[in-house]
Amino acid sequence: MSKGKILVTGGAGYIGSHTTVELQNAGYDVVIVDNLSNSNADMINGIERITGTRPAFYQVDCNDKEAMKDVFAKESGIKGIIHFAASKAVGESVQKPLMYYRNNLDSLMTLMELMPENGVEGIVFSSSCTVYGQPDILPVDETAPIKPALSPYGNTKQINEEIIRDAIYSGVPYKAIILRYFNPIGAHPTAEIGELPNGVPQNLVPFVTQTAMGIRKELSVFGDDYDTPDGSCIRDYINVVDLAKAHVIAVDRMLTNKSEEKVEIFNLGTGRGVSVLELINAFEAATGVKLNYKIVGRREGDIEKVWANPDRANNVLGWVAKENLEDTLASAWKWQEKLRRDGIM
Ligand code: UD1
Repeated sequence: MSKGKILVTGGAGYIGSHTTVELQNAGYDVVIVDNLSNSNADMINGIERITGTRPAFYQVDCNDKEAMKDVFAKESGIKGIIHFAASKAVGESVQKPLMYYRNNLDSLMTLMELMPENGVEGIVFSSSCTVYGQPDILPVDETAPIKPALSPYGNTKQINEEIIRDAIYSGVPYKAIILRYFNPIGAHPTAEIGELPNGVPQNLVPFVTQTAMGIRKELSVFGDDYDTPDGSCIRDYINVVDLAKAHVIAVDRMLTNKSEEKVEIFNLGTGRGVSVLELINAFEAATGVKLNYKIVGRREGDIEKVWANPDRANNVLGWVAKENLEDTLASAWKWQEKLRRDGIM
């Protein structure tokens, strides 16, 4: 029997598609809303190939309130929402701040306005470790202060968290869980779904796999003069399937009234900091492919080092990041090879 219907906004995207698979595997029915602005309808086929079930799909922009009302009318009984849909390129957000504020704030408010009248019991929100800026204490836990955002993108995550908290404290009839992701990487082990960046990748791992494939000439390592053991920046790289599974636990928790508070916040990371140079070595070890890279200057706005204290998610959610870095990088490579086989890139 179905555990209920979950609306996944941005479900054709990278994290959304992996989460849809895990929701379906856990017995939920999934309704995807995605405007395909930075994603591909073919991901829906990949989801179906993995799970044998095709999620309902609406090509709709979540900022379009009338269209969203239609989705709720057609898909009665939606119990929970996972809200992934957002613009997420840090550099682009500096160029197009209004677009970022419009896309990322309106969509959340539209959904939250529609939740009570449609009886939706809870929302899980995709936030980011970017809200911590450069933390004073590492590993960083959820009580760390929120630092001034370094980009409009980062600011939208902070404001979205405030919107959720204010709404919850005002007494709205639903719950919220805010998940602060560290750096999601990798792909589904079947290589049926994965990350499909538009144009030149801004994020490290897609750039690594595209360079290894010969699509990019060489990887630029942004800085080797940071205050870290090898001088390159440190992040907490989390396997996307592990990350997806945390969303299922969060939804279960909201819908079975296990939340201790009406709004809860969890870091989702491994607890392990990995430098850019370590990641390159791990990629080469995992795949046997040599990577062409050079050290260049620092990238503006980069944080020197950040990794998670995931104790709260481990202890309260009972969730742990299980996959290791090498296997995760191998999965990213397998996905890149599949894109090549399919003639996509
Ligand atoms: C950034 C955002 C994060 C956001 C994510 C989404 C900040 C501080 N972080 O993560 O909030 O959720 O993007 O896209 O705003 N690197 C290279 N060469 C490259 C690309 C990256 O050396 O070609 C390095 C970067 O300097 C960084 C690491 O790789 O140290 C990871 O970079 P990236 O994948 O872009 O993620 P973040 O910047 O951590």
